[in-house]
Amino acid sequence: MTDRIDRLLAQHAARYGVRHDVAVFRAPGRVNLIGEHTDYNDGFVLPVAIDRDILIAAAPRNDGRVALYAMHDGTAVEFALDRIAVAPGDGWVRYAKGVAAVLQDEGARLRGLEGVIEGTVPIGAGLSSSAALEVATALAFCAFGTADFTWTRLAQVCQRAENDYVGVRCGIMDQFIACLARPHTALFLDCRSLAYEHIPFDAPGYAVVIANTNRPRGLVDSAYNERRQECEAGVRLIQQYVPVVRALRDVSTELFARYRTNLPDRIGRRCEHVITENERVQQSVNALRRGNLDRFGRLMNASHDSLRDRYEVSCRELDVMVDIARSSPGVVGSRMTGAGFGGCTINLVAADRVDRLEQAIRERYPACTGFRPDVYVCQPAGGAERVKG
Ligand code: GLA
Repeated sequence: MTDRIDRLLAQHAARYGVRHDVAVFRAPGRVNLIGEHTDYNDGFVLPVAIDRDILIAAAPRNDGRVALYAMHDGTAVEFALDRIAVAPGDGWVRYAKGVAAVLQDEGARLRGLEGVIEGTVPIGAGLSSSAALEVATALAFCAFGTADFTWTRLAQVCQRAENDYVGVRCGIMDQFIACLARPHTALFLDCRSLAYEHIPFDAPGYAVVIANTNRPRGLVDSAYNERRQECEAGVRLIQQYVPVVRALRDVSTELFARYRTNLPDRIGRRCEHVITENERVQQSVNALRRGNLDRFGRLMNASHDSLRDRYEVSCRELDVMVDIARSSPGVVGSRMTGAGFGGCTINLVAADRVDRLEQAIRERYPACTGFRPDVYVCQPAGGAERVKG
């Protein structure tokens, strides 16, 4: 970390001149243990922050302008805080513009800044590089301006930035875990009340292994928004019979069984995934509290199968990756993680079998898919923070 910060500060000095008021902020990526596509249905999730993050070195300016440089692709952008608009060619700057605009809309008085951004969260791999970027830039803006937000509200600001300025109707999970993670724990979050609990996730003898399919993820955003609409359609249909239902969170499996046949098949399968996944999250928390990792692994497997068959957000590459893991010794559970359509799988593996798993993936995955995988062994990390200055 020290080396990265030094390089970031050197880059900041090279671009903007040597200053003594440069601060560095960090926000982590995440991997979701279980609870997929439940957050925007007022349900439950169980993510952990990973030891891969986005850093921004920033210093304030007095002219109300924001200048940012991203080290990963060498692009520089600039915009004025009093005239924020997303332009068609905007890439990652949409996140920063969105965060600044929503913060101001929610009452913050911001100063301009000049920043350099760097990160170790793979981009577009379903490990929430976007939420990490949003939260890291939000911290920088808040530090130099007049802004008083709780972590929960900051997560909501960043979610709104993504909803309104990027056009993805994402839920709160990614921004929430980036803000509120604690090392060695998973975060059990009720996405309706936003009540949360840190569940110890040390699992001695086990490792969390993330396997990146590296399949390019085209059209994820539109498919994601479409799933959300299908859930909303399901709620409207169920409401005709049970008006108190506000979201799929309110539908138990017993209640659902009564009305399932009244729903069109596709909508029924989408709802069934969300309803059973909410149960699996709660069962997983119980399993983890009792240290029953085998049970938790079986719930992870069931989650993947449901995402593949009912929610239809998996893809061949994810299924191949999961199959390889499940046939590798010492793997207790394997599933796709994040929105889907590519991205990563998460695997819970006996620590002394991690090498075997990695070898199996490296040998078999490219032969089956034509893509080269990446494998990351990760530690549950802490949430966003100011790391320097
Ligand atoms: C993306 C979204 C989250 C969540 C997951 C699926 O990561 O940003 O809000 O919906 O997909 O669980």
